[in-house]
Amino acid sequence: MEPVVALVVAAGSGTRLGGNVPKALREVGGRPLVLRSIEALAEGGVDRALVVVAPGLEPAFEGVLADAPVPSACVAGGAERQDSVRAGLAAIAGDPGLSRSVFVLVHDAARALVPAAVVRRVIDALRAGAVGCIPVVPLVDTVRRVTPSGSTVVDRAELCAVQTPQGFVRARLEEAHRVVAERGIAVTDDAAALEVLGETVALVEGSREALKVTEPIDLMVAEAVVRSRS
Ligand code: C5P
Repeated sequence: MEPVVALVVAAGSGTRLGGNVPKALREVGGRPLVLRSIEALAEGGVDRALVVVAPGLEPAFEGVLADAPVPSACVAGGAERQDSVRAGLAAIAGDPGLSRSVFVLVHDAARALVPAAVVRRVIDALRAGAVGCIPVVPLVDTVRRVTPSGSTVVDRAELCAVQTPQGFVRARLEEAHRVVAERGIAVTDDAAALEVLGETVALVEGSREALKVTEPIDLMVAEAVVRSRS
């Protein structure tokens, strides 16, 4: 079977979480978020990982990555998430060990507790022929669109929240990020970049456990999830 590489983005500032350690190195249940992310990805079928970190933090991450269950390296990211993804894709393309991978899974390090079953669903969809695949969950809150002229309720049955890992045929995602950068389009995830090429993405069932650790309360929830698993 074709090898699968994970591109784990961890170069954000993490200011909403606070603390003086980079978010991806914060621990949940005694293990750094980035390590838990790679463990889940590996259990779900990923063979190698490349972690994109803020410039200058490579040594701090390299120490932690030595404990990863699959070969893992790190590379410096950019100012916006899409710059970090582009830097990671370039590093994969330039590494003979990583560029054998036909498929790439882009994952937010902050979604450290994604169940392996979700990772497996994404990889299975790619192996079944999808060019891109994303995990989604239904919305639980009622949602309103707020504009300067007032607010209106939105039918939440038509909406879903998008998680990671998002899986892609690597060559198509490279092309998507090249076009997005060239045209100066801002995207907040990689599926949106792929759609710029006119491709459609497949949806698979995500999980509430794949929450993105963003604010202090998310760390508390993540701790509770880890405790409930052990
Ligand atoms: O900012 P946001 O929460 O959307 O970030 C999602 C993920 O992208 C995080 O894991 C963060 O570390 C990563 N990121 C990045 N490079 C940036 C900004 C965000 O790798 N410049």
